[in-house]
Amino acid sequence: MKKFERTVMCGQVNETFLNKIIHLLGWVHRRRDHGNLIFIDLRDRSGIMQIVFSPEINLSAYESAKHLRSEYVISISGKVVKRSQSTINKDIETGHFELQVDNLEILNKAKALPFAQDEGEMVDEDLRLKYRYLDLRRPVMQHRIETRHKIIFAMREFLNSQKFFEIETPVLTKNTAEGAREFLVPSRIHQGSFYALPQSPQLYKQILMASGMERYFQVARCFRDEDLRADRQPEFTQLDMEMSFINEQDIQNIIENLLQHILNSVFAIDIKLPLQRMTYADAFSNYGVDKPDLRFEMLIHDIGKLFADTEISFLKTVLEKNGKIGALKVNRNFSRSELDAWVDRATKNGAKGLLWIRFNENMQPESPVAKFLPADFTTKVKEIFKDLAPNDTLFIIAGKYKDSWEQLGRLRLQLAEALQLIPQGLLKFLWVTDFPLFEYDEKEKKWSSVHHPFTSPQDGWEKLEPHSIKARSYDIVLNGIELGGGSIRIHDPNVQKEVFKLLGFDLETMQDHFGFLLEAQELGFPPHGGIALGIDRFVMLLLNCKSIRDVIAFPKTATGQDPMMQAPTKVNPMKLRDYGLKLTEKENK
Ligand code: AMO
Repeated sequence: MKKFERTVMCGQVNETFLNKIIHLLGWVHRRRDHGNLIFIDLRDRSGIMQIVFSPEINLSAYESAKHLRSEYVISISGKVVKRSQSTINKDIETGHFELQVDNLEILNKAKALPFAQDEGEMVDEDLRLKYRYLDLRRPVMQHRIETRHKIIFAMREFLNSQKFFEIETPVLTKNTAEGAREFLVPSRIHQGSFYALPQSPQLYKQILMASGMERYFQVARCFRDEDLRADRQPEFTQLDMEMSFINEQDIQNIIENLLQHILNSVFAIDIKLPLQRMTYADAFSNYGVDKPDLRFEMLIHDIGKLFADTEISFLKTVLEKNGKIGALKVNRNFSRSELDAWVDRATKNGAKGLLWIRFNENMQPESPVAKFLPADFTTKVKEIFKDLAPNDTLFIIAGKYKDSWEQLGRLRLQLAEALQLIPQGLLKFLWVTDFPLFEYDEKEKKWSSVHHPFTSPQDGWEKLEPHSIKARSYDIVLNGIELGGGSIRIHDPNVQKEVFKLLGFDLETMQDHFGFLLEAQELGFPPHGGIALGIDRFVMLLLNCKSIRDVIAFPKTATGQDPMMQAPTKVNPMKLRDYGLKLTEKENK
């Protein structure tokens, strides 16, 4: 049986190995042939070590080295020596040393590569994903995967110290009614029946509380058949947690301490606790979203009162219909064509229109509606935007509150990005609280849960209309991205049934879908609550990556495919028969 000799990892060769014979293993990162000397940068996951082949040290190793190419896997041994002053490479940890190779063994050859190591980021992403192993060999990807490991390890370390149990829950399960479309798995034994892959382990973790586990966590795989975006994958990983006998504050404290531990131990960053909190109502009225990016200001202001007696007909109509007029203020001397481009952009976002009012050097308003503005308009604007200054532009959207504020929220982010108003390197955490329990689904003409149907309403809910009931839920937001969400759950079967009823479930559907939960709630269910953090998003944000695909070893493409394994694949019709399934003619093509 071959035993691989490895004295040390490439990136860890240092003074202590000077003049010693050592063994290294790794990949040929770069090769430079200087005729009488061949230099190789040997790479493993720890870093790079320069090795040198010379006919004077070992002729046969030198001869073999002539055949080495990028990404060959080799085993070498030789003496560590100091580099001459002029050849020291300050860019790498081992840059003061090189290894004079006395013995070379080629463990595996590599053909011409589909893309070179240093081309990584420029290469088409599908190609990177097809050859993910080549992509993952790149030091930047190795660093990301290593950091992800460290973050997850720190999570486990902290939660273990807080007496949490790590418990696995099934992947073959039943729809958890959390809102997204689920993936289905046909059962061969029970033909015609399907398992659902879990959107999250929500119901299992609640049942674990009924089981007396008190504190649970899991690094859980979740599956959602949704449209993909930069921060969404069909399968992703959550740090999923649940606790008994706790309230919102207890859960938020644990998460804050967890974040502090991770940032401190992995990144040597100190965060100040407690983190900022904001109600959903405030977040929406100031930022037009439930996950505000607080790295920059630019609040949305209601400027309806400026137009109370306006002659501008579209604004007049909006106010008459109880709509709202919202504005963002930006200090930038926009040209006319730039303003037109912003109007275009807002329309493309889905806004019905975007009105701009620009204040010139003399603080006179310029705008397509300038001639309809009253003489004291600037003074009145200053009552709302106290720091109004020359070259300020107001971007205004009018309409229904929810629609127009959402559009302003989107525009706020686009303006900040285009005008580079977002400082880099900042981590702005925020708890958003007091969400509504329900939202009205205009398409389906019924109420649906903002979080999920197991979320407890706030006290006094019995007397309220569905739209004014608030939830005992909370989201944690980092730099404008929803990092996690959770809630205190319902543990009283009567409350649970009422909530199901408001969501439009009849008794039979309730029993059919959630009979086990309702029964457990009658057999000693402790008050409990929890939260789940999106690990992929967290790692992406901490590493400053643009997409969660960059921090997942084997992500799916934007169209949900795995170009390496070529999943999803067609299945032989014979095989489908085992499951009692048959494709239609159209699907068979
Ligand atoms: P929620 O649905 O808010 O809550 O999900 C929690 C966190 O998971 C991450 N996340 C995703 N990450 C990548 N791709 C996706 N498609 C995706 N969807 C969600 C986000 C999100 O904040 N069971 C509840 C939690 C609870 O109540 O305890 C749940 O899953 O970061």
